[in-house]
Amino acid sequence: MTLRLAGARYRYAGTPRVVLDGIDLDVAPGRVVGLVGANESGKSTLCLVASGLAPGSIGGRLEGSVTMDGVETVTLAPHEHAQRCGVLFQNPTTQLSGTAVTVWEEVAFGPRNLGLAVPEIVERVEWALDTLGIAPLAPKDPARLSGGQAQLVALAAVLALRPAYLVLDEPTSQLDPRGTRLVGEALAGLAAETGTGILVAEHKTELLAAMAQDVAALDAGRVALLGPAADVLADPRLVDLGVEPPAAVRLARALEAAGLADPRLLAAVEQAAAGGDDGPVEAAGVSDRPGVGQGRA
Ligand SMILES: Nc1ncnc2c1ncn2[C@@H]1O[C@H](COP(=O)(O)OP(=O)(O)OP(=O)(O)O)[C@@H](O)[C@H]1O
Ligand SMILES: [Mg+2]
Repeated sequence: MTLRLAGARYRYAGTPRVVLDGIDLDVAPGRVVGLVGANESGKSTLCLVASGLAPGSIGGRLEGSVTMDGVETVTLAPHEHAQRCGVLFQNPTTQLSGTAVTVWEEVAFGPRNLGLAVPEIVERVEWALDTLGIAPLAPKDPARLSGGQAQLVALAAVLALRPAYLVLDEPTSQLDPRGTRLVGEALAGLAAETGTGILVAEHKTELLAAMAQDVAALDAGRVALLGPAADVLADPRLVDLGVEPPAAVRLARALEAAGLADPRLLAAVEQAAAGGDDGPVEAAGVSDRPGVGQGRA
């Protein structure tokens, strides 16, 4: 049971350039895998390929293999993908249905299309809205949301499908620190509690430090670094890959450079960066443990 890329090589239709070159990456149930890299390193393309949208829906040429729970994604029909793997694009407004008149209806759109019974639809919609702290948006017109609100609604609509895997391309790009933290907590809790496997491309390395178990750093379409989040995010090579390390790592380095690397000071910096006293991300169960089975409804 894993979302697995093995030797994945991809180029978009009509271009000779290989954009992903020999990607090996696993997203196991219950794990959050962060994806970092400079602009144009291939994060969004990897999200499209991992979710099966490329080449499935957008074409292009894929070599190597991409499997979900052992099934090659290229053999799945679009509706089969949608049930296994939820995708959130970098620009959330492109993802709203354009037909729903309220946020509630927007989030219900996917579950309705799955043909679920009404009580189940209601339960999922309210759960998704509550999980992301956006229940008050339920009666609003989806066309009149702020960028941040639209991003949360698009994510709620994906969560309501309860897919086994989630592929999220910069899900917090339009969110303020509070919204970012809320999404981080919600996703970490989701992985720990329901066994959802999550691949998340994200520039905010603090967020990944708090929610991801593993991090992969891309460099021009190849995986340059891959390992436990704490190791990759503290790797000195990260800066050369165009990725800003988390504040705790930068501070610790500055302290060391100034000859102030007292272990107690470094520990305090790390604790503060992890959220300090009110660090509910840890409380939500983001420990380095494997998935807890397929407990979704
Ligand atoms: N539809 C497309 N057709 C052809 N080439 C594309 C297409 N989309 C992206 N590319 C190219 O693929 C490469 C990787 O782009 P991608 O969007 O995956 O990078 P990214 O890491 O997500 O960047 P960013 O941080 O800006 O979001 C780039 O060189 C880009 O120009
Ligand atoms: Mg991108």
